[in-house]
Amino acid sequence: MLATALHYSHTLLKEVLQPGETAVDATMGNGHDTLLLAELVGRTGHVYAFDLQAQALENTAARLSEAGLTQRVTLIQKGHETLAHHLPEALPVKAAVFNLGYLPQSDKSVITLPATTRQALDALLVRLAPRGRIILVCYYGHAGGPEELASVRAYCEGLPQEQYNVLNYQFINQKNQPPILFCIERKPF
Ligand SMILES: C[S@@+](CC[C@H](N)C(=O)[O-])C[C@H]1O[C@@H](n2cnc3c(N)ncnc32)[C@H](O)[C@@H]1O
Repeated sequence: MLATALHYSHTLLKEVLQPGETAVDATMGNGHDTLLLAELVGRTGHVYAFDLQAQALENTAARLSEAGLTQRVTLIQKGHETLAHHLPEALPVKAAVFNLGYLPQSDKSVITLPATTRQALDALLVRLAPRGRIILVCYYGHAGGPEELASVRAYCEGLPQEQYNVLNYQFINQKNQPPILFCIERKPF
């Protein structure tokens, strides 16, 4: 069976992220992606995870604690647009993931937004290691979702092919707006 966008995002992360490397979860939510990244970076790597909502940090902290992986992650209760204030510019990021939209069973008014998503992408591109990947899974069925999807698509389409490979993965015959995935991969120098 073809993988869902969410499942495929995990495959794309597992293919590149190695023990000892640095990763970013730009939208931690309930911490499912944060946990995967923490497993992949091993004892010597590190994950920086962002979310605006205290509930997201609580849920993610509990998930990491249960797995014994708390030490591998810095949880930041700030928007991902502040990424440049939290990660040194010289620190190479091997993988980053965004799940754009709102946190299910939570405050649907707290959604990711085109301008701040672009700001975070700009900050990540400066830090992205050769063969590093930024993965965006766009949920767009809510108010504001189509505008954000269009913004992400335009951003991705505008990246120079000399420096980046950009992938778009989506099902085109499914109802109810299934999420759409984009993957930006930096070409080796
Ligand atoms: C679709 S959910 C993420 C789900 C998450 N990957 C998980 O495993 O549960 C989107 C999250 O983005 C968060 N968010 C919204 N604006 C944000 C911003 N500017 N920076 C970081 N996170 C933001 C929301 O609070 C919400 O928790």
